[in-house]
Amino acid sequence: MSHVDQTNRLDAEQFPADATDLQADVVTDHNHKLYIETVGCQMNMLDSELVVADLRKRGYELTRDVKEAETILFNTCSVREHAEHKIYSSLGRLRYGARKNPKKVIGVMGCMAQKDQNLIFQKAPQVDFVVGTGQLAQVAGLIDKARINHHNHVRSRELAVGLGRKDGKHTEITNSFQSYDPLRDPEMRPSPYQAFVRIMIGCDKFCSYCVVPSTRGPEQSRSPREILSEVKVLSDQGVKEVTLLGQTVNSYKHTQDGKLFRLSDLLHLIHEVEGIDRIKFVTSYPKDMTNDLLEAIRDLPKATRYLHVPLQHGCNDVLKVMKRGYTVEDYRDMMQRINEILPGCSVSSDFIVGHPGETEESHQKSLASIREFRFKNSFIFKYSERPGTKAAERFPDEIPDEVKKRRNNEMLKVQNEISEEDNAEFIGRQVEVLVEGPSKSAQKVGQDSSGALAEQLVGRSNCDRIVVFDGNPRLAGTIARIEIIDVTPTTLIGSIVTKEYQLHSGPSLPILQ
Ligand code: 5AD
Ligand code: SF4
Repeated sequence: MSHVDQTNRLDAEQFPADATDLQADVVTDHNHKLYIETVGCQMNMLDSELVVADLRKRGYELTRDVKEAETILFNTCSVREHAEHKIYSSLGRLRYGARKNPKKVIGVMGCMAQKDQNLIFQKAPQVDFVVGTGQLAQVAGLIDKARINHHNHVRSRELAVGLGRKDGKHTEITNSFQSYDPLRDPEMRPSPYQAFVRIMIGCDKFCSYCVVPSTRGPEQSRSPREILSEVKVLSDQGVKEVTLLGQTVNSYKHTQDGKLFRLSDLLHLIHEVEGIDRIKFVTSYPKDMTNDLLEAIRDLPKATRYLHVPLQHGCNDVLKVMKRGYTVEDYRDMMQRINEILPGCSVSSDFIVGHPGETEESHQKSLASIREFRFKNSFIFKYSERPGTKAAERFPDEIPDEVKKRRNNEMLKVQNEISEEDNAEFIGRQVEVLVEGPSKSAQKVGQDSSGALAEQLVGRSNCDRIVVFDGNPRLAGTIARIEIIDVTPTTLIGSIVTKEYQLHSGPSLPILQ
């Protein structure tokens, strides 16, 4: 299928001046079906959203069927080895199809592309280009180049990598995200009412186990002006909840017009945006959890009472090996401040089990920390040695996988017990829920007592708990008051309180947890 329209024209940068009409035909002579697979964190989800929006403007449409797609992208993650294996096996499955159909173009973007550029070409020769985290604006041009090369019967491998620099000369990463039109791709969002907004990129913490500082580059904060204008555009598109993203989001700092803005200042600014009902941010770094931020959450009703602040380990010796820069006592002080300033605020954590230096005794301390801090939930990861990190250089990965697995299960078991106990406290209480839409696992469609259509809907409470209840799908995008009648470790189950409330719901009503 040939498809050329106004928005599909190539600009000079993507297409060399000596390009012939024949080349122009080659880059448009394909079915414009785009398949994209995304693994990893919310940053990656957002990057995929931006790339898809850019490609849609050029005439592409998304498909879930990798076989019918002639443009295939993988947005990759390097945080754990397992995520990389997953991508290599997906790539392996495409080897034959790529050989059969010369119109197929395969690109790899994201952290793996940043880190292992040449290795990807070696292991998966069917890949046409790899593009690092800072160069996503080049994806469209790279796809076109790959098509021209295929037409000329050469499989050239294009590399576009590069990280931003702190000295201000960088701008590669910054340009990459600034060059995108903030009108992004609503279909790629968690729901039409929720959107991610990047406020920072990179990380300067250099925890010994972590590959992120080398795949995402140094920490850089975006200007409040740009962030605010993006949030306004999202609100105009019908977004009700924004989640501000950064690897250490509460380290946000940006000087604009001679004034220093921190995350607390940003929350105050975004709070003024009409149409936005909720503001969240992830992921926080324990040492940067300052009181001004906690007080901003307390004073701003749209800021949710939920913090994701990974402890990573409950033993000081391991925290030291991890180079996390705090002790369990420091974390305890932070939790006390959170509980004083924000009563009822829920906190979630990440943990690593089997990190070099973890003994049975230190593992017991991690279990004890879940009991003490009563996290809403914890993401638990088995240590995965990442080449190039300090931990990989200095310590052997000596804890056997069965031990890591057992410790992982023990952590999950304790966390589940805590989550279920704390969720049970909600029974009989009412919570305000931003309704996201029909629940994915919903099977029930029927009528409520008034004869209206009722389906199982899902949303989240102000403290980030998942809530399911029966209601009219029309409620999606509104804030509904739900009475909780039952719980599981991961979910609150409830029913809608009043119909009147559904009609007049909004952020002006008192916020319950
Ligand atoms: N092995 C296991 N887990 C890791 N994480 C980061 N690096 C590693 C690693 N090498 C976990 C941390 C982090 C989360 C996103 O991934 O817990 O918070
Ligand atoms: Fe990785 Fe540590 Fe930075 Fe988090 S704070 S991204 S764990 S280096």
